[in-house]
Amino acid sequence: MQNFEELKQEALGAIRGAERMVDLRDAEVKYLGRSGKLTGILRGLKDLPEAERKVKGKEANTIRVILETEIAARTIALEKVEEDAKLSGKKIDITQPGIKHRRGGLHPLTKLRREAEQIFSSLGFEIVDGPEVEYEWYNFDALNIPVYHPARDMQDTFWIRADADPKKGRLLPRTHTSPVQIRFMEKHQPPFRIIVPGRVFRHEASDASHDIQFHQLEGLMIGRDISVAHFKHIIGSFFQKLFKREVVIRLRPSYFPFTEPSFEVDMSCLVCDGAGCSVCKQSGWLEMGGAGMVHPHVFKAAGLNPKEWQGFAFGFGIDRVAMMKYKIPDIRLFYSGDIRFLKQF
Ligand code: DAH
Repeated sequence: MQNFEELKQEALGAIRGAERMVDLRDAEVKYLGRSGKLTGILRGLKDLPEAERKVKGKEANTIRVILETEIAARTIALEKVEEDAKLSGKKIDITQPGIKHRRGGLHPLTKLRREAEQIFSSLGFEIVDGPEVEYEWYNFDALNIPVYHPARDMQDTFWIRADADPKKGRLLPRTHTSPVQIRFMEKHQPPFRIIVPGRVFRHEASDASHDIQFHQLEGLMIGRDISVAHFKHIIGSFFQKLFKREVVIRLRPSYFPFTEPSFEVDMSCLVCDGAGCSVCKQSGWLEMGGAGMVHPHVFKAAGLNPKEWQGFAFGFGIDRVAMMKYKIPDIRLFYSGDIRFLKQF
């Protein structure tokens, strides 16, 4: 039988020398396992005479407790070593910048539309909506554009293949927001002031300044004595607030079937302040849209008495204004869905 002291030293050496958990478990099995060395001794005690058995039994048990204590201590130490090794394998660099989450943004046309709505609200205007698919009556006839009127050619139209309404005619994607003038006047008594932002459609070849869809901002202000002077002031205030600077408004005689008199609205060029540059084609003026005093035929079509009411209407291209405000060279970019373009706003 091995000397107890020798066995103890040998076992302690194996336990303390274990570098990994598996080595420690091997040592445990080797000395304390079911067929381990110390277990063998303890089992052999029963064959010894009583006096000797008592002494040796006590000694063997003391060694067992010492070894078990040592194994527990070594287990804790090795667990920590292995945990540390695991952690140092995937170190976290807390100084690294975080991952940026990309947030959605508003489309430039939406931004401009909302800005326009805010400004006109502050001027006492109500914001009104109308259908994108419209009847011929609202889009043309009620606006003083009968079937054979040449002005119908000014607005190349997509037609919808559907049965015509006996009174309101054929269906079409509206070519302008002006039909909402009629729809609103049918249901509301003046005085009122409204704007109608919305999408319109034209059947035409697209280029840098034309697309088959674009956005308009329609305006209508009706009362007993609303005049061109009111219009000039309102529209001047609007552009001044929108572009955040002094602007000069110029009205140029023009023609629209639904207004009389009619005019084109020009604004002093933002780029050269009216001196003349390539953006305004050396004229010092930028064309912003059309306007005029509502034609008596239009009032009649909407069921209002033109002897009682008068007022102005106007229509601007939202895309046009956005192109100027954000210096965008091609209208088609608005509808391209190109994220590189949209991310800039
Ligand atoms: N509806 C016209 C267009 O699409 C724009 C317009 C001009 C609207 C004059 C108006 C107006 O209300 O008075 O070209």
